[in-house]
Amino acid sequence: MAPMGRHDELKARYAAVTPDWLGQYYEHPIGIERGEGSWVWDLEGERHLDFFGGVLTTMIGHSHPDVVAALREQAGKVLHTSTLYFSEPHVELAELIADLSGIPDARVFFTTSGTEANDTAIMLATVYRRSNQILALRNSYHGRSPTAQAVTAQRGWSATSHSGLAVSWVHGGYRLRSPFRDLDDEAYTRACVDDLVQVIDMTTAGDVAAMIAEPIQGVGGFATPPDGFFGAMKKVLDAHDILFISDEVQTGWGRTGDHFWGYEAHGVVPDLLTFAKGVGNGTALAGVVGRAEVMNCLDVLSFSTFGGNPLSCAAGLATIRAVLRDDLQANAARQGRRLAERLDPVVARTDWIAERRGRGLMQAIEIVHPGGLEPDRARTAALMEACRDRHLLVGKGGLYGNVIRIAPMLDVSDADLDEGVDRLCDAIAAVDAD
Ligand SMILES: Cc1ncc(COP(=O)(O)O)c(C=O)c1O
Repeated sequence: MAPMGRHDELKARYAAVTPDWLGQYYEHPIGIERGEGSWVWDLEGERHLDFFGGVLTTMIGHSHPDVVAALREQAGKVLHTSTLYFSEPHVELAELIADLSGIPDARVFFTTSGTEANDTAIMLATVYRRSNQILALRNSYHGRSPTAQAVTAQRGWSATSHSGLAVSWVHGGYRLRSPFRDLDDEAYTRACVDDLVQVIDMTTAGDVAAMIAEPIQGVGGFATPPDGFFGAMKKVLDAHDILFISDEVQTGWGRTGDHFWGYEAHGVVPDLLTFAKGVGNGTALAGVVGRAEVMNCLDVLSFSTFGGNPLSCAAGLATIRAVLRDDLQANAARQGRRLAERLDPVVARTDWIAERRGRGLMQAIEIVHPGGLEPDRARTAALMEACRDRHLLVGKGGLYGNVIRIAPMLDVSDADLDEGVDRLCDAIAAVDAD
């Protein structure tokens, strides 16, 4: 019998001490020892090209020198202060994010996760509007607390129906499985807006607090609505004084290429915007930015122990400054176009790939049984394994676990992008031949 490798050994130990629902990718999961740029080395010494960044979180490359230097410098000064005392990185990062948010008179509150950021946004909106009613989009994912789960519309991720919110569901950007899928962009948006009007008129008590939406649905498989979609929705929201919360946990910081924030594709400015994942390039950094009037509506104290801690704020500052200095949004736009150009012909000739969608460095392919839309989880798993065999890390997602998510680092080079696409196309060809 072959000796147990480090991965197999960890698999057994992991299974013994963590809950069963905390799964890994692949039949033989890998452990990561270290990373550099778009590459990681696993615990058995193999090198992989990382086109997922730990779920769009390592945003500007592993061990980015600016982020490492900022963390080292801050760690040598002080790790924790709490917001009971000022820390310069906290104030500087809040200033930077307020400025970048596009929200006038913005205030920023930091948390440690996207879930807590969305919890905070929903708490603020419901207190401000004195209502527990929320609109959320079908196929959404907003996190794992009861509140965030209450606005999550993914059967595979909804562990509980327990929450104090009254939630009504509206149509969003998942066009492939929408009853409106055959409509063109304009008609699709109109149909969803008509539905929104009916949902408000028929299913709510009339004083809805907010609508929360991901501009491109992340866990939902990078489902992308037509440009202007949320602009049209927001006209209806505005008529009812319903706040708009843009969950930019996956779409922020230029990843979509054409825009710095996902909301900008729609000609709107949100009342509240939540961010997490990529902003700290792997450190626990998240938060809410919003209009002062809404952000200030609590008349009690509220506090997050690790929110705004100097270490993650230092990493956040270094990350955002690198994004701006190196114009990584432009790189995301350019590499995203190259990715689409390379993938489109492959998608067109592969009868089990329903579509490529997404924009910038946030693109996905949805895997189905040929001739229809029935999801093919088995083939998706086979494609994940084929990518792993070729040392390419991509993500899985979608309502039925049948979507491959491709999200390279924002600073991915031409050579690495080509290399990753070559490996992906080769994996598709191998699965096709099986
Ligand atoms: C759009 C979106 N919102 C919120 C969350 C929750 O973030 P976290 O896992 O940091 O709590 C996620 C996580 O995947 C997400 O994709």
